[in-house]
Amino acid sequence: MIALVLLLAQAAVPAPAPIAPGAGAAALVTEADPSGSAEDVYARRCAGCHAADGKGQTTKGIRLRVPDFTSAKWQKHTRDDEITDIIENGNKKRKMPAYKDKLTADQIKALVPYLRAFARK
Ligand code: HEC
Repeated sequence: MIALVLLLAQAAVPAPAPIAPGAGAAALVTEADPSGSAEDVYARRCAGCHAADGKGQTTKGIRLRVPDFTSAKWQKHTRDDEITDIIENGNKKRKMPAYKDKLTADQIKALVPYLRAFARK
């Protein structure tokens, strides 16, 4: 009985308010911001794991075993539609986040040539 009362009391508590933009969470921007270029988007959202140079040698990138975007082999074996698909939908099992709610379709498309350019560096 007490447990039921507690349960009901908990259910009545409103969900926490969403974090307001600019509330000290610059790295956790949650809405699609269409103004960001591929370079901005990559630096802000991808480099933490994939590294600024695309090699993925960040602490997180090494731990999660992210691919090396500068590798000729990776470039050759990964199609453009596979790149857009993983950016949109992520890979839950491997901890690659999904970005379809955070980036616009144009931004996701623009990331493809950005990632391809790592091969030539
Ligand atoms: C929390 C760390 C993390 C962040 C942030 C992240 N990724 Fe990943 N990414 C991963 C992991 C882990 C993998 C490996 C999973 C796999 O290959 O399916 C991966 C794989 C990929 C792949 C390769 C998939 C393949 O088939 O080889 C692409 C392309 C990619 N990420 C692009 C991006 C882009 C673009 C962003 C930013 C918009 C981004 N990632 C942000 C962790 C991350």
